[in-house]
Amino acid sequence: MYQALYRSFRPDTFDTLLGQEHIVRILKNQIKNGTWGHAYLFCGTRGTGKTTTARILAKALNCDSEGEKPCGTCETCRAIASGSFLDVVEIDAASNNGVDDVRILREEVNFPPVMGRTKVYIIDEAHMLTGAACNALLKTLEEPPKDTVFILATTDPEKLPATIHSRCIRLDFRRVSEEVMAKRFAEIIEEIGGKAEPEALALIAANADGSVRDGLSLLDRCLAGGTDITRDDVLFLLGMAGTEVYIEMTDCVLNKDLAGALRCFSDVLAEGKEAVQFAKDWMEHFRSLMMIKILDRPQDILNLSMENIERLREQSKRADLDFIRGCITLLSRTIADARYAHRPRTLIEIAIVRMSR
Ligand SMILES: Nc1ncnc2c1ncn2[C@@H]1O[C@H](COP(=O)(O)OP(=O)(O)OP(=O)(O)O)[C@@H](O)[C@H]1O
Ligand SMILES: [Mg+2]
Ligand SMILES: [Zn+2]
Repeated sequence: MYQALYRSFRPDTFDTLLGQEHIVRILKNQIKNGTWGHAYLFCGTRGTGKTTTARILAKALNCDSEGEKPCGTCETCRAIASGSFLDVVEIDAASNNGVDDVRILREEVNFPPVMGRTKVYIIDEAHMLTGAACNALLKTLEEPPKDTVFILATTDPEKLPATIHSRCIRLDFRRVSEEVMAKRFAEIIEEIGGKAEPEALALIAANADGSVRDGLSLLDRCLAGGTDITRDDVLFLLGMAGTEVYIEMTDCVLNKDLAGALRCFSDVLAEGKEAVQFAKDWMEHFRSLMMIKILDRPQDILNLSMENIERLREQSKRADLDFIRGCITLLSRTIADARYAHRPRTLIEIAIVRMSR
């Protein structure tokens, strides 16, 4: 059976975890010096490695290897990865959030580990615990039995009471940069014997918005069509018109060719592009123009190929900064208004009319 990439490529050691070096440094140090805490709070947006890191930490605390822990390969490490290690318990707080669940947990916690050295409780989606369940958990967090570590993971730390925060070591997971992600995608593609244009991978990474899981899912969808991935495949999948359309639209408004701009917009919609998404991407185009006008090395910031940057540079010479700023403001306001509009398309057409004046 085919296993999704984000499952088959789950990091099993600290060194394969992407973009969380600040956390890895702390945890590795604590393991080396034997100074790990009894309770951790892992915070951060979805798909950035919270659950993965919790499992890596659980392995490190139980790994049999003499060298760096976790090794990821010993029997213990493998048992934890497959979920068959009795001393590592994962609890999904979204479905076990009641006070009774925590009570059972509190009783169970009192038994010493049966297979390894340290019992690890990973409580995912911890913000879903009810108030009563939180209170019941507090006592245990305060004085956990020795050889026990709690790891609470959440996307929504603000929803947890201060009493929980104050008992945990808080670690914040960052969104992973596009560059780091694209590089990893290239390795994965090579490993599975595929081929991909660098621009295609950069585009996938840009659309993942910092979530490695989202990035890998998108990569998976691209691979469903074959192991050769081009930028056009990705664009097609994203339902995103290529740079050309935005250059053309912008040319039209720069030349005050209102009819041309409206026609071009209508063509894009006819191809199945969603109106608001178009406005967002067009705004992004204006942002690129602005960066190219201002920066010496826009390629460090923009997710565009050098070719496209050169093409945009030509256009940016003809647009002054005030015009660009005005278009960005207008589009962003239009996008916000479009959320409540019955016909977002009309709002965007009005914006086009105003820009072409
Ligand atoms: N920092 C990362 N480095 C490498 N891969 C990652 C990273 N973060 C996520 N992934 C990939 O995404 C998958 C899901 O990650 P994980 O379950 O750790 O995310 P999470 O932060 O717990 O997300 P959620 O908030 O949705 O529970 C992993 O199996 C892995 O393939
Ligand atoms: Mg998780
Ligand atoms: Zn090991």
